[in-house]
Amino acid sequence: MGDFINLIQKRRSCRKFAEGDISADNVQLILRAALMSPSSRNRQLWEFVVVDDGILLDKLADSKETGAQFLRQSAFAVVVLGNPADNDCWIEDGSIAAYSMQLQAEDLGLGSCWAQMRGRSLSDGTSADDVIHGILEIPAEMKVLCVIGFGQKGNACSLRDEDTLKWENVHINKY
Ligand SMILES: Cc1cc2nc3c(=O)[nH]c(=O)nc-3n(C[C@H](O)[C@H](O)[C@H](O)COP(=O)(O)O)c2cc1C
Repeated sequence: MGDFINLIQKRRSCRKFAEGDISADNVQLILRAALMSPSSRNRQLWEFVVVDDGILLDKLADSKETGAQFLRQSAFAVVVLGNPADNDCWIEDGSIAAYSMQLQAEDLGLGSCWAQMRGRSLSDGTSADDVIHGILEIPAEMKVLCVIGFGQKGNACSLRDEDTLKWENVHINKY
């Protein structure tokens, strides 16, 4: 008791990564967290592509106009995929898996950040989904939800400030 209370407050988006590999055991623990996550009807239809090649990470960083540059520095990234034709909950399932990986990373003392890809594009209108399909040879029916970058933390992040929590967004019994 207590560990989760601290973990949930400590996890912050880390966009500055330090040099240093992440052990294969820790990479596996992060993926284990994704595979342990709850999914609609327990169908476990997500797919994940682990990317640790620097050239590919650079390409992922440039796969949308803004907001993914931090992937360049990450030790590895996980591309979260789902098939909308086969799973009406692909966004929910993928999101839970992605956040589970982020929480596991924090528990290991590692940094992570979400790069949104669904609905994002380059300035010429090319969707990030199309770009990433080309980079990673992903089957056409799979859609890219997000890419989570992981690495050694490059800067200390402050705890989430309790005073900024929007308790006014919580309604009891009636809105
Ligand atoms: C659905 C979603 C999409 C996000 N997309 C991006 C993104 O594309 N690039 C980025 O740098 N951060 C992204 N983030 C991280 C948020 O900016 C971050 O979680 C938020 O500012 C709160 O900060 P914290 O994670 O440090 O608590 C995303 C987070 C979520 C949940």
